[in-house]
Amino acid sequence: MVNFLPKEYYDRFLSDVSKTRIPNPIRSLLPLEKTPGLISMLAGKPNASTFPFTSIQLTARSPMDPTKEEVLTLGPKELVTALQYGPTAGTHNLLEWIWGLQEFSHGRKCGEGWRPSVGSGSQDVIYKACGCVGGITGICVRIDLCGVIPMFKAHGCTLIEVKTDGNGIQSSSLREILENWPAEKPKPKVLYSVPYGCNPSGATATIERKRETLELARKHDFLIFEDDPYYYLYFGTRPRPPSYFKLELEQPEVGRVVRFDSLSKILSSGLGIGFVSGPEPLVNAMDLHTATANLQVSTLTQEIASTLLRSWGHDGFIAHTERVSAFYRQKRDAFERALRTHLDGLAELDTPEAAMFVWFKLLIADKPGEEGDTLDLVRNKVFENGVLALPGMVFLPDMRKTAYVRASFSLLAEEEVNEGLRRLRVTILDARK
Ligand SMILES: Cc1ncc(COP(=O)(O)O)c(C=O)c1O
Repeated sequence: MVNFLPKEYYDRFLSDVSKTRIPNPIRSLLPLEKTPGLISMLAGKPNASTFPFTSIQLTARSPMDPTKEEVLTLGPKELVTALQYGPTAGTHNLLEWIWGLQEFSHGRKCGEGWRPSVGSGSQDVIYKACGCVGGITGICVRIDLCGVIPMFKAHGCTLIEVKTDGNGIQSSSLREILENWPAEKPKPKVLYSVPYGCNPSGATATIERKRETLELARKHDFLIFEDDPYYYLYFGTRPRPPSYFKLELEQPEVGRVVRFDSLSKILSSGLGIGFVSGPEPLVNAMDLHTATANLQVSTLTQEIASTLLRSWGHDGFIAHTERVSAFYRQKRDAFERALRTHLDGLAELDTPEAAMFVWFKLLIADKPGEEGDTLDLVRNKVFENGVLALPGMVFLPDMRKTAYVRASFSLLAEEEVNEGLRRLRVTILDARK
């Protein structure tokens, strides 16, 4: 029996704007259309017989044997959903697959106080979640995703950085922040974290760190935004650590973890599908945002994704993701080899265990003990020499100078990596002169 936090618990987390959103009068009645025998005169749904599409056929690689192609057809039955407006949280088929996945991967079952909702990529659902808890005076965030920094700032959040290392978030740093929090200031409401392949450093949080963080969430009453698009792109040698979403089942009550998944890195970023799995009161508030903004994610892409995923089953999905993560492991290995060859003595690397980025420190400080600064070097000189990468500063909430650089290796052939890092070496040596 899982205990989940009551609806009222979330009142203090919800932003003013989120509390003022009212249900869309048509959308809130749409479920009633399923009433047997009913004649619905409710919504302005266009008549699909006027649309040009009669069927959609796709070919996809088989997850069990990628040399074979399988044909997927969205015939008249699927097109009824795929060509029409749909439920705010997602189409029945995709939501059913997500419920199954979350039980399969994280042991989280239906009817235990949480539910999923689909977004146009996980960025969309993270943005909506920030808006629902926005206006926060204190928010703990680690340097995970530079795109998230503008998102939180747009919602009036103050960002506080928590230290990380090769084992993920340093719970001791988090504890110190929380225990020394000034009594007159409201405590942070949210910890945002990318536990797998933390973007940019590539570190993966260990189970011990996650347990400590969950304990702190209970003690200091904050939510954990688990942004986990690289969960299925883990290629480390250590056993895969369970998600926060799974581990919170060990707590006396669940409902502090809001999990974000993405199909962008696994099926296609062009599909634009991500999903949140979180406590119902928060997901309800996010759906009110969707209902007033974009109504729902394209039903066509949802049906394409769910037709593929349902034909694979969860075993097929895992087989596919294992192949994808093995692909990125090879890319990581090639990048690391090239870095050790070309930047020997000029850089220090944190070997990533997931995702598609390398986070490395350039040894460019003028004096020993000083932190170098990659901003001008990477943005200007390295670019002039024909390489584009990200200076580490853009990942730091306070934009302080740093000697780190983030490089993405997902698209590069081994020769390109070698040539790129050779150019980087030449630039560093020139700058030293
Ligand atoms: C950590 C992290 N979160 C979220 C996203 C956004 O993913 P999506 O394409 O699902 O919006 C990205 C994309 O790069 C990411 O790296």
